[in-house]
Formats: sequence, C-alpha cells, structure tokens
Amino acid sequence: MSEQKPAEKKLIFSGIQPTGTFTLGNYIGAIRNWAPLQKEYRCVYCVVDEHAITVRIDPAKLRQKTLEAYAQLLACGIDLEKSLLFIQSHVPTHAQLSWVLNCSTQFGELSRMTQFKDKSQKHPDDVNAGLFDYPVLMAADILVYNADLVPVGEDQRQHLELARVIARRFNGRYGDTFTVPEAYIAPVGAKVMSLQEPTKKMSKSDENPNAVILILDDKDTIIRKCKRAVTDSESEVVFREGKDGINNLLTIYSAVTGKTIPEAEKEFDGQGYGTFKLAVGEAVADHLAPVREAYTRLISDKGYLKECYTRCGAEALRYSMRVLNKVYRKVGFVQSELH
Ligand code: TYM
Repeated sequence: MSEQKPAEKKLIFSGIQPTGTFTLGNYIGAIRNWAPLQKEYRCVYCVVDEHAITVRIDPAKLRQKTLEAYAQLLACGIDLEKSLLFIQSHVPTHAQLSWVLNCSTQFGELSRMTQFKDKSQKHPDDVNAGLFDYPVLMAADILVYNADLVPVGEDQRQHLELARVIARRFNGRYGDTFTVPEAYIAPVGAKVMSLQEPTKKMSKSDENPNAVILILDDKDTIIRKCKRAVTDSESEVVFREGKDGINNLLTIYSAVTGKTIPEAEKEFDGQGYGTFKLAVGEAVADHLAPVREAYTRLISDKGYLKECYTRCGAEALRYSMRVLNKVYRKVGFVQSELH
C-alpha cells in the first residue's frame, strides 16, 4: 500500500475475531463480500486477536485460532497482491489510538452498546473494562487507516455508528483528522440466524453445534444440520413474517446460489420442506467446498502464513503510524524521534 491513499481509490477496513472457526453467518454477512471489494477498493483486513481477549479464552487456543482464522480468510479469497491481511496485536497503533479515542468517548455511550449488555449478561463473572471499551478499539481499528467503508454484518451497525460519532467529535475538537467511515451492509444475509432458534443470530459461541454451520464443516455435516433446522408446521417454502426458520434458509440459499428469494420460492413451489432443506444443504456445501480445500492446503504451510502476516503487518504499521503521528500532534503530545 502506498504512503498516500490514492484519491481515486477508497479504503476499506474490516476485522473478525479469531474466537472459533468462522460460521456461515460470518461468511455470508461479512467475509464473502471482502474478496469482491478488492477489485474496486484498497482493502485492509485484520484478525482482531486483541478483541478476542475481552472474553476469557485459553492462550494456546487463541494462538491456534488466530492462525486458523488467518488461513480461513486467505482461503475465502483475500488476495495479498491487492489487500493487506494481518494480525491486530502485531500493529500497536490500533491500541495506541484507542487510548486517545477513549478520551473522546463518553461512558454513557459505551453503556448503551447492546453487545456489551448481552455479553456482560452472558459472562456476569467477568465484566472487564476491555469488554466495555471494545467499541473504542474497534473505532481505532477503522480510523487509524482513515477507512472510507467498513463491510460488516447487521450486528456491528451500532459499533460503527459510535465510530462515526467519535470521528466527528475528534474532528470537531482538534480539526479535520479522520475520515468519517460508512458501513457497508450487504442487502442479503446481513443477519444469518441460528438454525435451531431462528430468532437469534448464528453465533460462533453457540453451545448447540446444530445451530451453526461452520465454513469448514464437511458436506454430510452441513446437510445434516440443514435437515435438522427448526422451521414451522406449514409446508410452503415462502418468505413471510412469522416463518423465521424458512426465511433464514431462503436467505442462505439465495446468498450461496445468487438466486433471488422470489426465484427460490418458485423453484420450490409445491415441494415440501424436506426437499428444500436438502437443496439448501447441498448448495451451501458445494459453495464452501473450494474454501475448505484451500484452507487445508494453507493451514499446513505455517512458514507461508508467517511470511504473509509479517509483510502485511509491517505495511499496515507504516501506514497507520502516519495517522497516529498526526493524532499525537493534534492532541498536543511532544513529538518523539522514537517512532
Ligand atoms: P465478529 O468477529 O463477531 O464477526 C465478524 C463479521 O461477521 C459478521 N457476522 C454476521 N453477519 C451476518 N449474520 C451473522 N449471524 C453474523 N455473525 C457475525 C459481523 O457483523 C462481522 O462483520 N467487532 C467485530 C470485529 C471488529 C471489526 C473491527 C469489524 C473489530 N474491529 C473494525 C469491522 C471493523 C466483531 O466482533 O465481529
């Protein structure tokens, strides 16, 4: 990435937590949009391991999951000729900027974050300051590259809105510094639901394995999970209020086949849920097969992965350092020769 962001190309930033194998929700809501964006934009993608320690995670597991996450993103089509893909903790500017941004963020704003409320209810014994402050680190991830656009699923909309508020506030206080980023939320699949409780989002941390399709699941597993998906007592494959399970399966089918929902409804007109669920399972498995294949190859080459995340991390650090230095000057820190 060149020092100056070329005027004609906007910059994309997005991140994903390495807390487990990615779900079909992560894939449809976020990752599958990342590769096509590389054609038009300069893209910066990041495995956010610093975010992952806001809930308790075994260190050996975090290390392993971080490398696996990195390999999964490459397998999903992130092309290092066009994009940067690195590990957050390798680039200290994110955490450094987040401290400064903390001082432009209100306690009340963070208290209103629904993900904080949900996670603190889920882990009442560990409502740590990092969990509370998480959206500020996320804002720093984005603002330290002056990103224009942030592709995320629906559940990150509130965090992104806060990042915009922080950017505007900082610009108002210290003069124009940050680009105010826009969310890029895909029209289909921005919220993929659990297969077992289709009113809840599909989540890596779900304890019921049948609720979640993982992008590395094999074909039989994917088909079995789709067949067991909770639906309703009717038999019509139509997208309609109250048919949460079927709506979710139609959304998934549409996302992996590229067919519209009305096209899918027509295709399964007069056929029962059994046929439809099997077709969804097969379509998802076929769509993910190349990802699984590429992942198997990549994860066995730790040397290559290291070369990639080291090179991208160094470049991300160089680029973000310029923004951080500007911020440090603006807030009145004495200039240092140390970095
Ligand atoms: P994370 O790791 O929970 O999820 C990664 C991406 O997947 C999307 N996603 C979903 N989309 C549709 N349906 C679902 N069921 C579903 N579950 C997850 C998320 O919206 C997200 O886009 N805070 C972020 C990571 C992050 C970040 C950032 C993102 C840290 N810094 C800066 C963008 C920019 C998170 O926890 O995502």
